[in-house]
Amino acid sequence: MAIALSFLSTHLLLLVASFGVLAKGQLDPHFYDKVCPQALPVIKSIVEDAIKQEARMGASLLRLHFHDCFVNGCDASVLLDDTDTFIGEKNAAPNMNSLRGFEVIDRIKSALYYVCRGNVVSCADIVAVAARDSVVALGGPSYEVHLGRRDARTASQAAANNSIPAPTLDFSGLVSSFVSHGLTIQDLVLLSGAHTLGFARCTNFRARLYNETWTLEDSQATSLKYICPSESGDGDDNLAQLDGTPAKFDTVYYDWLLQRKGLLHSDQQLYKGDGSGSDGLVKYYSQNSKAFWEDFGVAMIRMGALSPLIGTDGEIRMDCRKVN
Ligand code: HEM
Ligand SMILES: *[C@@H]1O[C@H](CO)[C@@H](O)[C@H](O)[C@H]1NC(C)=O
Ligand SMILES: *[C@@H]1O[C@H](CO)[C@@H](O)[C@H](O)[C@H]1NC(C)=O
Repeated sequence: MAIALSFLSTHLLLLVASFGVLAKGQLDPHFYDKVCPQALPVIKSIVEDAIKQEARMGASLLRLHFHDCFVNGCDASVLLDDTDTFIGEKNAAPNMNSLRGFEVIDRIKSALYYVCRGNVVSCADIVAVAARDSVVALGGPSYEVHLGRRDARTASQAAANNSIPAPTLDFSGLVSSFVSHGLTIQDLVLLSGAHTLGFARCTNFRARLYNETWTLEDSQATSLKYICPSESGDGDDNLAQLDGTPAKFDTVYYDWLLQRKGLLHSDQQLYKGDGSGSDGLVKYYSQNSKAFWEDFGVAMIRMGALSPLIGTDGEIRMDCRKVN
């Protein structure tokens, strides 16, 4: 009896241990290898096509993954359309008139339905893979995307308003936001490096341009003033590049911060030039593209693992814009 009990408890322990490993393993880079081996190559080719049409789409797809993951986890909640009876996240303050790339995600979803012979690949995984493929297509590092996320049946406009960091935040506010998501100061500096791609609207950098001009390099201030008039409402949607090479994944974003050319207040907060905060990290990545390449991928995997729905939680949406 004692032997049987100890046998049983050993096995219980093993069971608990192996469940522990499974729960911790959560996402898996090989999740679709057997069920749909063509899934990843198809996503890649559609992303490449979209970027060939318009280079900025790569930036937009990368940002989409960030705005998904920071709002109750990477669960494709950001893709749900508003209806008469449902309020999604698309019209939340950080997203409205700003997030892009939804049509590319739709195109991938339909292609995969055909290629995988059914509804196999979640919208949340599509967004995660499209972000990686965008980085690669624009000259950045590759990394293994961990997969197996499922899609939310809900969304939260309030959470989208509150959980996505605003470009008006100071360094301490940016750090708090990232720490509240289980991420570090290093993750903040690395993931902000995504601003090596894409553009921002005048409305998001006007206050920095006209009210903190002393923190902005002269020639940058002069050229931005052509793009972004001081009067609120005037040219709000005019676009400026987040770094000198918005269609190339490189370390110019960090170079710009060292030169006080950061476009957003939040960008320049990462480098103040007095050795405080993350000054050292910005300098390091500006001078060490190999380290940026390696560490950016690791940080993306960490961001991509924020509270995913797994197993039988959530669903695999048929249409990324609405719950089944
Ligand atoms: C650290 C806090 C961050 C703040 C305050 C911030 C803020 C912003 C703002 C205000 C814009 C311009 C939006 C517009 O004007 O319509 C923008 C663009 C962008 N953001 Fe961020 N962001 C942050 C972090 C990130 C992260 C972590 C990523 C991805 C990993 C990211 C990727 C991008 C990209 C690629 C663009 C350009 C999008 C395009 O051209 O369509 N950002 N960000
Ligand atoms: C989110 O922000 C938008 C824009 O500021 C506002 O109109 C909306 O009411 C907010 N939503 C919630 C649920 O707080
Ligand atoms: C600059 O600051 C002043 C005073 O605080 C404020 O009235 C004005 O709206 C700000 N301008 C911009 C463009 O944010």
